Amino acid sequence: MTEYPMRVQKYLARCGAGPRRKCDIMVIEGRVRINGESIETPGTLVNEGDHVLLDGKIMSPLKMRYFLLNKPAGYVCVNNDSRGRTWVVDLIPKGRELGLFSVGRLDLDTTGLIVITNDGEIGNRISHPSSMVTKEYRALIRGHWTVKELISRLEKGVDLLDRGRVTGIKVVKVVDEGETTRISITIHEGRKHVVKRIFKAIGSRVIELERTAIGDQRIEGMNIGEWVEIDHDTISKKILGEV
Ligand code: URA
Repeated sequence: MTEYPMRVQKYLARCGAGPRRKCDIMVIEGRVRINGESIETPGTLVNEGDHVLLDGKIMSPLKMRYFLLNKPAGYVCVNNDSRGRTWVVDLIPKGRELGLFSVGRLDLDTTGLIVITNDGEIGNRISHPSSMVTKEYRALIRGHWTVKELISRLEKGVDLLDRGRVTGIKVVKVVDEGETTRISITIHEGRKHVVKRIFKAIGSRVIELERTAIGDQRIEGMNIGEWVEIDHDTISKKILGEV
């Protein structure tokens, strides 16, 4: 690493403490000491060789690791949980030791593609709304819907029943299955339960949900529960669309 002095929240993210925005909060909560001094300002700089403690534990920069996983149902996308549930990072050997976390969230019952990393910097960039990373979801929804109906209800934007509006939805594919319809859509959104809330708002319900792509990275070829390690370059090019 050659970028010293470095802001403390960036340093913590490099040490696997979690995504950058969470590291900001750790600093504000007064959980961090540099060279024995308690600090509470996220902009505080760390110099090479500084002694940084988080909750009394020494923080050293980790080797950055990047994985793609086809998440099975029944795993939670959390980075700390007191309810004894199975974490998605546990599917990668030594996931917790490596400081891995999932980038964004898939619901307990949702399957599909998710990025797992210990690089808080890249995690932040992928999930930040300004990156506009496209996600593709395949959903089995209640009811018989035609392509025309779905395009007209979704592509003009959807007002969610609870709060907010989702725009930028694109219908990719629709397959009529009688009482149900299989649909693929793309969105840029990362709000909680957003796909289920979209279909609820148009009077349907999601029965099954799978994320099939993030950016240009598709899930095809990966079985459920399978993961693959990739490099920073692949993340930049295929997920963030950088050249
Ligand atoms: N939208 C949802 O409703 N659930 C997910 O898991 C992901 C997106």
